[in-house]
Amino acid sequence: MSIDFGLKGAVAIVTGGGSRASGIGNGRAAAVLLAEAGAHVVVVDSAAGNMAETRDLIAAQGRDALLVTADVTSQEECAEVVRRTCETFGGLDVLVNNVGVAGPAGTVVDVDPLAWEACLRLNLTSMMLMSRAAIPRMRARGGGSIVNMSSAVGLVGGHPQVAYPTTKAAVIGLTRTMAAHHGPEGIRVNAVAPGYVHTPMVSSQGIDEGARERRRHAAPLAVEGTGWDVGEAVLFLAGPRSRWITGVVLPVDAGLTATLGSGGAPSVTSPPGPAPSSREPLS
Ligand SMILES: NC(=O)c1ccc[n+]([C@@H]2O[C@H](COP(=O)([O-])OP(=O)(O)OC[C@H]3O[C@@H](n4cnc5c(N)ncnc54)[C@H](O)[C@@H]3O)[C@@H](O)[C@H]2O)c1
Repeated sequence: MSIDFGLKGAVAIVTGGGSRASGIGNGRAAAVLLAEAGAHVVVVDSAAGNMAETRDLIAAQGRDALLVTADVTSQEECAEVVRRTCETFGGLDVLVNNVGVAGPAGTVVDVDPLAWEACLRLNLTSMMLMSRAAIPRMRARGGGSIVNMSSAVGLVGGHPQVAYPTTKAAVIGLTRTMAAHHGPEGIRVNAVAPGYVHTPMVSSQGIDEGARERRRHAAPLAVEGTGWDVGEAVLFLAGPRSRWITGVVLPVDAGLTATLGSGGAPSVTSPPGPAPSSREPLS
């Protein structure tokens, strides 16, 4: 028996709904699960080719997706994504702000200031721009749900590079603030904070088996997380089964953040989230 998530006929946008490589990324999983739940899904990605596998997975369920190539750092392109969505499906109910990159290496002393700004724009400002375009359309429907992709690194310190965790912590502030502002309009805003998830974002950086194993055992459950685990959390927060939940940050991390600071934390050899990479797109 399939679960009814209350999303049949709902209209959902997933930004970064493609993936940089074959496999199950967080955005791809969210898009596929929303389609499986009966939503009309709009997959948004700046790299058109990255969306093909998402489209195929959705088509395999006998569903269609609207693919829109757009850069979510552009206010005009965000507005156009929402306009096309509403033109095609008659409105908008769900926005999943998933786009995010590892960003530049460095502490505040040596991070490239321009790369820092580009990372803020991509990981944080894009969520404001998409939400700004989406909220008036949600209001017109009497409500909606926004799910922002944070990270476990937004909840804890210790990351070797300053830019990425700063943006992910800011996503939490954005989420809570938006939840308070837009709750009275029936718009819920929540965040998901993945831990050591094995996605193309990680595997495409050439992580070796030893590091993969250490990531698996860093959290109490000692089970490797996938994009599907993150997608399931997004699905729950997107639909009316979470109708009384807003302003929360849901860690999806096999218990990793629950152990930190307890004195009994397992040994963590590298911080949660994607490994720093000089190959990250920055705008
Ligand atoms: N994988 C992990 O371990 C992990 C952990 C914590 C948080 N996260 C977060 O998950 C999110 C991404 O997950 P994913 O698995 O879907 O990543 P992914 O890299 O596989 O896919 C992201 C997609 O976003 C697209 N994109 C990049 N810049 C864009 C832009 N300006 N406009 C539109 N699209 C753009 C890329 O082309 C790519 O297809 C990020 O917010 C990331 O910080 C990941």
